[in-house]
Amino acid sequence: MPRTPEQIATLQKRVAEIESWYHRIDLGDGVETPGHFRMADYLDYYNFPASMQGMRVLDVGASTGFFAYEFERRGADEVVGIELPSWEAHDWTPRQRAELDKKTPDKRDKDNRDVMIDGFTIVGEALGSTRVKRVFQPIYALDPAELGTFDIVFSGAMLMHVRDPILGIQRMRACCKPEGRLIVSIAAVMTDDDRALAKFVGEWNQCNWWQMSPACLDAVLTCCDFDRIENRTTYTLKDVTGQFEDPTYVCHALPRRD
Ligand SMILES: C[S@@+](CC[C@H](N)C(=O)[O-])C[C@H]1O[C@@H](n2cnc3c(N)ncnc32)[C@H](O)[C@@H]1O
Repeated sequence: MPRTPEQIATLQKRVAEIESWYHRIDLGDGVETPGHFRMADYLDYYNFPASMQGMRVLDVGASTGFFAYEFERRGADEVVGIELPSWEAHDWTPRQRAELDKKTPDKRDKDNRDVMIDGFTIVGEALGSTRVKRVFQPIYALDPAELGTFDIVFSGAMLMHVRDPILGIQRMRACCKPEGRLIVSIAAVMTDDDRALAKFVGEWNQCNWWQMSPACLDAVLTCCDFDRIENRTTYTLKDVTGQFEDPTYVCHALPRRD
């Protein structure tokens, strides 16, 4: 049912109150979140199943929720979005952490609500979501004993932000069902050969540590007990201004079956 003009105005106000949006998401009735990345334009590169009916899906590093709600739209029975509990919880360098410590408690709370918490909630309410829940924890804490296991574990553009992406992949592997799959995208160092290269980019563009080449991510996935890599795709992710671009690698990794 279309929203009334009053409901549209209320939604627009809630969206506008948030200073920083990551995803540009269509909320219907002409309302769009003013995020940097319109991921709907790039969905084809991810090769997600058209129907996710019957699936449990884990979205690690869900941010303002574009992918988590897209998985629900595709019919997933249950989607769990993982996000850090606060901006401070990122793997900052000591120098960056010292800068963050200078924030007043009020500014810290506002930034945490804006960047980490409220956007995802507003999008879910606006889309009438019922099968997406969020768990605040770092990738390192993923535990199948707590979360169960998943048909699809997805990590989009987040492994560059963790100091130990290999441990992160091991934790995601632990949450894959034996017949499940990990779908992962990274901002990649592109090479025109098969060298497994990782580039240290510490302190670049907020919290970034490592960029891997596609061959490097494949090799890491293989070390982490995935034995088939498929749907390998590269594309250039651009923000809505077209000024920022990231070469991006996406692949699906299937757990080793004995
Ligand atoms: C660049 S955004 C990508 C958002 C979304 N996955 C996408 O592909 O459009 C990375 C997200 O990962 C989250 N993140 C960073 N480090 C994390 C960690 N150690 N554990 C869980 N999430 C983390 C960030 O807070 C942010 O929301």
